Amino acid sequence: MLKSCGRKLLLSLVGSMFTCLLVLMGPPALRSFADYFGRLSRARREVPAAPPSPPRPPAEDISPRDVFIAVKTTKKFHKARLELLLDTWISRNRDMTFIFTDGEDEELKKQARNVINTNCSAAHSRQALSCKMAVEYDKFIESGRKWFCHVDDDNYVNVRMLVKLLSSYPHTQDIYIGKPSLDRPIQATERISENKMHPVHFWFATGGAGFCISRGLALKMSPWASGGHFMSTAEKIRLPDDCTIGYIIESVLGVKLIRSNLFHSHLENLHQVPKTEIHKQVTLSYGMFENKRNSIHMKGAFSVEEDPSRFRSVHCLLYPDTPWCPANMVY
Ligand SMILES: *[C@@H]1O[C@H](CO)[C@@H](O)[C@H](O)[C@H]1NC(C)=O
Repeated sequence: MLKSCGRKLLLSLVGSMFTCLLVLMGPPALRSFADYFGRLSRARREVPAAPPSPPRPPAEDISPRDVFIAVKTTKKFHKARLELLLDTWISRNRDMTFIFTDGEDEELKKQARNVINTNCSAAHSRQALSCKMAVEYDKFIESGRKWFCHVDDDNYVNVRMLVKLLSSYPHTQDIYIGKPSLDRPIQATERISENKMHPVHFWFATGGAGFCISRGLALKMSPWASGGHFMSTAEKIRLPDDCTIGYIIESVLGVKLIRSNLFHSHLENLHQVPKTEIHKQVTLSYGMFENKRNSIHMKGAFSVEEDPSRFRSVHCLLYPDTPWCPANMVY
Protein backbone atom coordinates (compact mmCIF):
# COMPACT_ATOMS: atom_id res chain seq x y z
CA MET A 1 0.00 0.00 0.00
CA LEU A 2 2.72 2.42 0.93
CA LYS A 3 4.63 1.83 -2.14
CA SER A 4 7.71 3.95 -1.95
CA CYS A 5 10.47 4.19 0.52
CA GLY A 6 9.92 7.93 0.53
CA ARG A 7 6.44 7.27 1.77
CA LYS A 8 7.65 4.96 4.45
CA LEU A 9 9.99 7.65 5.54
CA LEU A 10 7.16 10.17 5.50
CA LEU A 11 5.24 7.85 7.72
CA SER A 12 8.00 7.91 10.27
CA LEU A 13 8.40 11.65 9.87
CA VAL A 14 4.74 12.35 10.30
CA GLY A 15 5.00 10.10 13.30
CA SER A 16 7.82 12.20 14.65
CA MET A 17 5.71 15.37 14.38
CA PHE A 18 3.63 13.88 17.14
CA THR A 19 6.47 13.13 19.47
CA CYS A 20 4.47 14.09 22.55
CA LEU A 21 1.78 11.70 21.47
CA LEU A 22 4.36 8.97 21.09
CA VAL A 23 5.79 9.65 24.51
CA LEU A 24 2.34 9.38 26.00
CA MET A 25 1.21 6.45 23.98
CA GLY A 26 4.38 4.45 23.56
CA PRO A 27 4.96 2.82 20.16
CA PRO A 28 4.00 4.70 16.99
CA ALA A 29 0.43 5.84 17.12
CA LEU A 30 0.07 5.52 13.38
CA ARG A 31 -2.14 2.55 12.92
CA SER A 32 -3.17 2.90 9.35
CA PHE A 33 -2.54 4.79 6.21
CA ALA A 34 -5.81 6.66 6.85
CA ASP A 35 -4.40 7.92 10.07
CA TYR A 36 -1.21 8.90 8.32
CA PHE A 37 -2.94 10.52 5.37
CA GLY A 38 -5.26 12.44 7.66
CA ARG A 39 -2.36 13.80 9.63
CA LEU A 40 -0.44 14.62 6.53
CA SER A 41 -3.39 16.56 5.12
CA ARG A 42 -3.88 18.36 8.41
CA ALA A 43 -0.20 19.18 8.55
CA ARG A 44 -0.41 20.46 5.01
CA ARG A 45 -3.42 22.63 5.67
CA GLU A 46 -1.51 24.41 8.38
CA VAL A 47 1.26 25.36 5.98
CA PRO A 48 0.36 28.33 3.85
CA ALA A 49 0.91 27.50 0.20
CA ALA A 50 4.02 29.06 -1.29
CA PRO A 51 3.10 31.94 -3.58
CA PRO A 52 3.33 31.04 -7.26
CA SER A 53 6.81 31.74 -8.52
CA PRO A 54 6.97 34.69 -10.90
CA PRO A 55 7.78 33.66 -14.47
CA ARG A 56 11.51 33.59 -15.04
CA PRO A 57 13.08 34.71 -18.29
CA PRO A 58 14.59 31.82 -20.27
CA ALA A 59 18.26 31.24 -19.43
CA GLU A 60 18.90 28.69 -22.11
CA ASP A 61 17.20 27.43 -25.22
CA ILE A 62 16.71 23.70 -24.61
CA SER A 63 14.75 21.03 -26.44
CA PRO A 64 13.10 17.87 -25.10
CA ARG A 65 16.15 15.97 -26.41
CA ASP A 66 18.27 17.68 -23.71
CA VAL A 67 16.21 16.15 -20.91
CA PHE A 68 16.55 12.63 -19.52
CA ILE A 69 13.36 11.50 -17.80
CA ALA A 70 13.81 8.38 -15.68
CA VAL A 71 10.56 6.57 -14.92
CA LYS A 72 10.93 4.18 -12.00
CA THR A 73 8.72 1.12 -12.14
CA THR A 74 8.62 -2.56 -11.22
CA LYS A 75 7.62 -5.57 -13.33
CA LYS A 76 4.34 -5.95 -11.46
CA PHE A 77 3.18 -2.54 -12.76
CA HIS A 78 4.17 -2.84 -16.43
CA LYS A 79 0.54 -3.48 -17.38
CA ALA A 80 -1.32 -1.79 -14.55
CA ARG A 81 0.54 1.52 -14.65
CA LEU A 82 3.01 1.85 -17.51
CA GLU A 83 0.51 1.19 -20.29
CA LEU A 84 -1.37 4.33 -19.31
CA LEU A 85 1.84 6.37 -19.46
CA LEU A 86 2.88 4.80 -22.78
CA ASP A 87 -0.54 5.63 -24.26
CA THR A 88 -0.38 9.20 -22.99
CA TRP A 89 2.65 11.38 -22.24
CA ILE A 90 5.40 8.91 -23.15
CA SER A 91 3.87 8.42 -26.64
CA ARG A 92 4.82 12.03 -27.43
CA ASN A 93 8.23 11.89 -25.79
CA ARG A 94 9.82 8.54 -26.55
CA ASP A 95 13.37 9.75 -26.95
CA MET A 96 13.59 11.50 -23.64
CA THR A 97 11.97 8.79 -21.55
CA PHE A 98 13.92 5.94 -19.95
CA ILE A 99 12.05 3.23 -18.08
CA PHE A 100 13.92 1.67 -15.17
CA THR A 101 12.50 -1.65 -14.10
CA ASP A 102 13.50 -4.90 -12.47
CA GLY A 103 12.41 -7.65 -14.84
CA GLU A 104 12.61 -8.60 -18.52
CA ASP A 105 9.49 -7.88 -20.58
CA GLU A 106 9.65 -8.34 -24.34
CA GLU A 107 6.20 -6.73 -24.79
CA LEU A 108 7.33 -3.59 -23.01
CA LYS A 109 10.48 -3.37 -25.12
CA LYS A 110 8.29 -3.33 -28.24
CA GLN A 111 6.18 -0.49 -26.88
CA ALA A 112 8.87 1.71 -25.36
CA ARG A 113 12.13 2.89 -26.87
CA ASN A 114 14.38 2.88 -23.79
CA VAL A 115 13.80 0.13 -21.24
CA ILE A 116 16.55 -0.55 -18.71
CA ASN A 117 16.50 -3.68 -16.61
CA THR A 118 18.37 -2.53 -13.51
CA ASN A 119 18.70 -6.11 -12.23
CA CYS A 120 17.78 -4.64 -8.84
CA SER A 121 15.51 -6.60 -6.53
CA ALA A 122 11.77 -6.16 -7.09
CA ALA A 123 11.28 -5.82 -3.33
CA HIS A 124 10.17 -2.46 -2.07
CA SER A 125 13.08 -2.19 0.30
CA ARG A 126 15.27 0.85 0.82
CA GLN A 127 18.17 -1.01 -0.78
CA ALA A 128 16.19 -2.03 -3.87
CA LEU A 129 15.01 1.55 -4.45
CA SER A 130 18.50 2.97 -3.96
CA CYS A 131 19.78 0.35 -6.38
CA LYS A 132 17.42 1.68 -9.07
CA MET A 133 18.29 5.32 -8.39
CA ALA A 134 21.98 4.43 -8.67
CA VAL A 135 21.40 2.94 -12.15
CA GLU A 136 19.29 5.98 -13.17
CA TYR A 137 22.13 8.28 -12.16
CA ASP A 138 24.78 6.31 -14.04
CA LYS A 139 22.65 6.08 -17.20
CA PHE A 140 21.98 9.81 -17.10
CA ILE A 141 25.69 10.64 -16.81
CA GLU A 142 26.38 8.25 -19.69
CA SER A 143 23.66 9.93 -21.83
CA GLY A 144 25.44 13.30 -21.86
CA ARG A 145 22.13 15.15 -21.57
CA LYS A 146 21.65 18.48 -19.79
CA TRP A 147 18.95 17.63 -17.26
CA PHE A 148 18.10 14.59 -15.17
CA CYS A 149 14.49 14.22 -14.06
CA HIS A 150 13.11 11.35 -12.01
CA VAL A 151 9.43 10.41 -11.85
CA ASP A 152 7.40 7.42 -10.66
CA ASP A 153 5.11 5.20 -12.72
CA ASP A 154 2.05 7.05 -11.36
CA ASN A 155 3.12 10.44 -12.70
CA TYR A 156 1.93 12.30 -15.78
CA VAL A 157 4.68 14.56 -17.13
CA ASN A 158 3.68 17.66 -19.05
CA VAL A 159 6.86 17.81 -21.09
CA ARG A 160 6.21 21.25 -22.61
CA MET A 161 5.94 22.77 -19.15
CA LEU A 162 8.91 20.76 -17.89
CA VAL A 163 11.11 22.03 -20.72
CA LYS A 164 9.85 25.58 -20.16
CA LEU A 165 10.66 25.37 -16.45
CA LEU A 166 14.14 23.91 -16.99
CA SER A 167 14.99 26.43 -19.71
CA SER A 168 14.76 29.18 -17.10
CA TYR A 169 17.91 27.80 -15.42
CA PRO A 170 21.38 27.22 -16.84
CA HIS A 171 22.15 23.47 -16.83
CA THR A 172 25.80 24.15 -16.02
CA GLN A 173 24.87 25.66 -12.66
CA ASP A 174 23.83 23.79 -9.51
CA ILE A 175 20.07 23.28 -9.84
CA TYR A 176 17.91 20.86 -7.83
CA ILE A 177 14.20 21.47 -8.30
CA GLY A 178 11.11 19.70 -6.99
CA LYS A 179 8.57 19.72 -4.23
CA PRO A 180 9.14 18.74 -0.59
CA SER A 181 6.32 16.80 1.10
CA LEU A 182 7.13 18.21 4.48
CA ASP A 183 6.98 21.70 5.87
CA ARG A 184 10.39 21.42 7.47
CA PRO A 185 13.74 19.80 6.82
CA ILE A 186 14.20 16.15 7.62
CA GLN A 187 16.41 15.27 10.58
CA ALA A 188 18.74 12.34 10.06
CA THR A 189 21.86 10.81 11.47
CA GLU A 190 24.98 10.51 9.46
CA ARG A 191 27.25 7.63 10.31
CA ILE A 192 30.82 8.94 10.38
CA SER A 193 32.50 5.82 11.67
CA GLU A 194 31.55 2.57 13.39
CA ASN A 195 30.34 4.29 16.55
CA LYS A 196 30.33 7.96 15.65
CA MET A 197 27.06 9.54 14.55
CA HIS A 198 26.37 13.09 13.49
CA PRO A 199 22.93 14.77 13.22
CA VAL A 200 22.09 16.43 9.92
CA HIS A 201 19.05 18.21 8.56
CA PHE A 202 18.19 19.02 4.99
CA TRP A 203 15.32 19.46 2.55
CA PHE A 204 14.58 16.93 -0.14
CA ALA A 205 12.18 16.76 -3.07
CA THR A 206 9.75 13.88 -2.78
CA GLY A 207 10.40 11.26 -5.47
CA GLY A 208 6.68 10.66 -5.95
CA ALA A 209 6.19 14.18 -7.32
CA GLY A 210 9.25 14.05 -9.57
CA PHE A 211 12.35 16.24 -9.37
CA CYS A 212 15.12 17.46 -11.67
CA ILE A 213 18.87 17.98 -11.35
CA SER A 214 21.11 19.95 -13.70
CA ARG A 215 24.09 18.23 -15.28
CA GLY A 216 26.43 20.67 -13.56
CA LEU A 217 25.17 19.56 -10.17
CA ALA A 218 24.89 15.87 -11.09
CA LEU A 219 28.59 15.81 -11.99
CA LYS A 220 29.49 17.23 -8.58
CA MET A 221 27.44 14.45 -6.94
CA SER A 222 29.58 11.79 -8.56
CA PRO A 223 31.80 10.82 -5.56
CA TRP A 224 28.62 10.03 -3.57
CA ALA A 225 26.36 8.84 -6.37
CA SER A 226 28.23 7.11 -9.19
CA GLY A 227 29.06 3.44 -9.53
CA GLY A 228 28.14 1.73 -6.29
CA HIS A 229 28.54 4.88 -4.23
CA PHE A 230 24.87 5.87 -4.18
CA MET A 231 23.95 2.71 -2.32
CA SER A 232 26.69 3.11 0.24
CA THR A 233 25.69 6.77 0.78
CA ALA A 234 22.07 5.66 1.33
CA GLU A 235 23.28 3.07 3.84
CA LYS A 236 25.39 5.63 5.65
CA ILE A 237 22.34 7.72 6.51
CA ARG A 238 19.83 4.84 6.31
CA LEU A 239 17.36 6.79 4.24
CA PRO A 240 15.35 6.08 1.09
CA ASP A 241 16.47 7.02 -2.41
CA ASP A 242 14.84 10.46 -2.72
CA CYS A 243 16.11 11.55 0.71
CA THR A 244 19.59 10.35 -0.15
CA ILE A 245 19.52 12.65 -3.20
CA GLY A 246 18.55 15.55 -0.91
CA TYR A 247 21.28 14.58 1.54
CA ILE A 248 24.01 14.59 -1.12
CA ILE A 249 22.85 17.88 -2.61
CA GLU A 250 21.92 19.94 0.44
CA SER A 251 23.94 18.42 3.23
CA VAL A 252 27.13 17.35 1.46
CA LEU A 253 27.32 19.86 -1.40
CA GLY A 254 25.50 22.77 0.29
CA VAL A 255 23.18 23.44 -2.67
CA LYS A 256 19.60 24.45 -1.82
CA LEU A 257 16.49 22.78 -3.20
CA ILE A 258 14.43 25.11 -5.40
CA ARG A 259 10.81 24.48 -4.51
CA SER A 260 8.24 24.33 -7.21
CA ASN A 261 4.48 24.00 -6.79
CA LEU A 262 4.22 22.61 -10.29
CA PHE A 263 5.18 19.06 -9.21
CA HIS A 264 2.49 16.86 -7.64
CA SER A 265 2.53 13.54 -5.83
CA HIS A 266 -0.41 11.48 -4.63
CA LEU A 267 0.59 12.37 -1.07
CA GLU A 268 -1.15 15.70 -1.51
CA ASN A 269 -4.82 16.39 -2.05
CA LEU A 270 -4.90 16.48 -5.84
CA HIS A 271 -8.41 17.94 -5.84
CA GLN A 272 -6.74 21.20 -4.89
CA VAL A 273 -4.99 21.62 -8.24
CA PRO A 274 -7.14 24.39 -9.80
CA LYS A 275 -9.03 23.25 -12.90
CA THR A 276 -7.91 26.30 -14.83
CA GLU A 277 -4.24 25.62 -14.05
CA ILE A 278 -4.01 21.92 -14.95
CA HIS A 279 -2.31 22.61 -18.28
CA LYS A 280 0.44 24.58 -16.50
CA GLN A 281 1.53 21.84 -14.08
CA VAL A 282 4.78 19.95 -14.67
CA THR A 283 3.78 16.63 -13.07
CA LEU A 284 0.50 15.12 -11.87
CA SER A 285 -0.28 11.93 -10.03
CA TYR A 286 -3.16 9.76 -8.81
CA GLY A 287 -3.76 7.17 -6.17
CA MET A 288 -6.34 4.95 -4.60
CA PHE A 289 -6.82 4.64 -0.95
CA GLU A 290 -9.43 2.62 0.88
CA ASN A 291 -11.66 2.88 -2.18
CA LYS A 292 -11.26 6.64 -2.14
CA ARG A 293 -9.82 8.16 -5.24
CA ASN A 294 -7.18 10.86 -5.05
CA SER A 295 -6.83 12.48 -8.45
CA ILE A 296 -7.07 15.86 -10.06
CA HIS A 297 -10.53 17.21 -10.55
CA MET A 298 -11.39 18.02 -14.13
CA LYS A 299 -14.21 17.79 -16.56
CA GLY A 300 -12.56 16.20 -19.54
CA ALA A 301 -12.89 14.02 -22.57
CA PHE A 302 -13.56 10.92 -20.46
CA SER A 303 -15.69 10.14 -17.46
CA VAL A 304 -14.16 9.29 -14.10
CA GLU A 305 -15.26 5.67 -14.63
CA GLU A 306 -13.47 5.50 -17.98
CA ASP A 307 -10.44 7.44 -16.81
CA PRO A 308 -10.03 7.29 -13.03
CA SER A 309 -6.48 8.71 -13.04
CA ARG A 310 -7.72 11.59 -15.30
CA PHE A 311 -4.47 11.16 -17.30
CA ARG A 312 -6.31 10.38 -20.56
CA SER A 313 -8.44 13.49 -20.15
CA VAL A 314 -5.35 15.59 -19.33
CA HIS A 315 -3.62 14.17 -22.38
CA CYS A 316 -6.55 15.17 -24.65
CA LEU A 317 -6.46 18.65 -23.15
CA LEU A 318 -2.73 18.98 -23.90
CA TYR A 319 -2.66 17.09 -27.23
CA PRO A 320 -6.15 17.35 -28.74
CA ASP A 321 -4.90 15.94 -32.05
CA THR A 322 -4.36 12.50 -30.46
CA PRO A 323 -6.32 9.97 -32.58
CA TRP A 324 -8.23 8.49 -29.64
CA CYS A 325 -9.27 11.90 -28.26
CA PRO A 326 -12.80 13.03 -29.12
CA ALA A 327 -12.86 15.71 -31.81
CA ASN A 328 -14.17 19.21 -31.14
CA MET A 329 -14.04 18.88 -27.40
CA VAL A 330 -14.83 22.17 -25.67
CA TYR A 331 -13.25 22.59 -22.25
C1 LIG B 1 21.43 -6.63 -16.14
O1 LIG B 1 21.87 -7.93 -16.49
C2 LIG B 1 21.97 -8.16 -17.90
C3 LIG B 1 22.32 -9.62 -18.11
O2 LIG B 1 23.39 -10.01 -17.32
C4 LIG B 1 23.02 -7.22 -18.50
O3 LIG B 1 23.12 -7.40 -19.88
C5 LIG B 1 22.61 -5.79 -18.18
O4 LIG B 1 23.59 -4.88 -18.64
C6 LIG B 1 22.39 -5.60 -16.68
N1 LIG B 1 21.86 -4.26 -16.45
C7 LIG B 1 22.50 -3.31 -15.78
C8 LIG B 1 21.83 -1.99 -15.67
O5 LIG B 1 23.58 -3.48 -15.26
